[in-house]
Amino acid sequence: MPFAVVLILLVVGSILFHLLSPWTFTELASNWGMVDFTVDITLYVTGFVFVSVNLFMAYCVIKFRHKKGTRAAYEPENKKLEYWLTGLTAVGVAAMLTPGLFVWAKFVDVPEEAHVVEAVGQQWHWTFRYPGVDGKLGEVDAERITAENPFGIDPEDPNGQDDVVVYNPEGHVPVDRPVKFLLRSKDVLHNFTVAQFRVKMDLVPGMNTFLWLTPTKTGRYELLCEELCGIGHFAMRGAVVVDEAKDFDNWLAQQTTFSEHNARPAGNAAIGGAQFAVCAACHGPEGQGNPAMNAPKLAGQSDWYLKRQIMSYKNGLRGTHEKDLFGQQMIGMVATLPDEAAVNNVVAYIETLPDNSSETTKDGDPEHGQKLYTVCAYCHGGDGMGKQALNAPRLAGSSDWYLARQLQNFKSGVRGTHPKDFYGYQMGLLSQTLHDEQAVDDIVAYINTL
Ligand code: CUA
Repeated sequence: MPFAVVLILLVVGSILFHLLSPWTFTELASNWGMVDFTVDITLYVTGFVFVSVNLFMAYCVIKFRHKKGTRAAYEPENKKLEYWLTGLTAVGVAAMLTPGLFVWAKFVDVPEEAHVVEAVGQQWHWTFRYPGVDGKLGEVDAERITAENPFGIDPEDPNGQDDVVVYNPEGHVPVDRPVKFLLRSKDVLHNFTVAQFRVKMDLVPGMNTFLWLTPTKTGRYELLCEELCGIGHFAMRGAVVVDEAKDFDNWLAQQTTFSEHNARPAGNAAIGGAQFAVCAACHGPEGQGNPAMNAPKLAGQSDWYLKRQIMSYKNGLRGTHEKDLFGQQMIGMVATLPDEAAVNNVVAYIETLPDNSSETTKDGDPEHGQKLYTVCAYCHGGDGMGKQALNAPRLAGSSDWYLARQLQNFKSGVRGTHPKDFYGYQMGLLSQTLHDEQAVDDIVAYINTL
């Protein structure tokens, strides 16, 4: 008897959970209402079976429970019952599968008027490419992929020159226009998923896959990788922003094309030297850093990372948190660099400074730190020299007090919480693997040995 009660409670509890649960579908923002329809049918069919089988079991447990003097009748075959069960199961399975076939037929039939956006995945971030005014994407080849050409676009292909390249994980699409996402992976399996769009697709290295949809609601939707792709999988997030047509055109016009990207002038170290005088006041004349001024060492850091941080300060991605007092100071300082060319110049000058080792100020346990560092090593490298392809800066040889402070800032959300600071956001997630101040000191002590 208690078993029958448990079964009935299980059924009632499941139905209540379904009706009252706060975990429901996100709002639909694409044309794929058909997907919701198939999910609903599956839920109704399996729900009906779940409820009826469990209630039937409870009924049997009560009805046929042991009574003194009665004997169970053995009935191994019942043709009529088997016909019924086979028939009902066939109808149920067909009801679940048939709508899926119709959805799939529509899913693989991309509308001719769909415009194309390429999304490229790699451990652990997204980038986007749009065909330029010619409407054609240039040829790509994995063998051509370099730090300067992350898509591997053929520089000889005229179609590729006007391709719009977005080297960050936030892509835009216009509302109410069918879009075909071409999907490529540089390394392992990834998966392109925006929950509100209801369609998803794997990215397979060596293959081109795709999905299409018509966005129906403007907004910013989180882009998730839904294929376990390594230790940073959970941090492989981006966004697809659905804009009104004219906002989309404006956004697209502001992006850089492949040829513009290639034509960017290199920084001029001689001019940058004069601009560096402002920086030298805190960071030291050789960019060696000065803990008394809370200014980290700059010499020896990669140019792409220095540039990205200066631009982050300029664009409000960094140093805007109310508790980031030293970051706020930097905002005033970077204002002395009026444009991108000035930033390139000063970074070019920093690259000429001698890379002397910085003073050790933290004494943690490097042995314990080494264990913790295995997570960092995936992106920053086992030698801590950084990897541009993974957007991970050099750590070895940096001011240790600065590394410790930044780890604390990432942990507490003082840094990396601006919605456009994509890589800071990843660090925020990963820094949570360090549970206390001791762990931070230990890891920094290990980095000091690199
Ligand atoms: Cu990429 Cu998970």
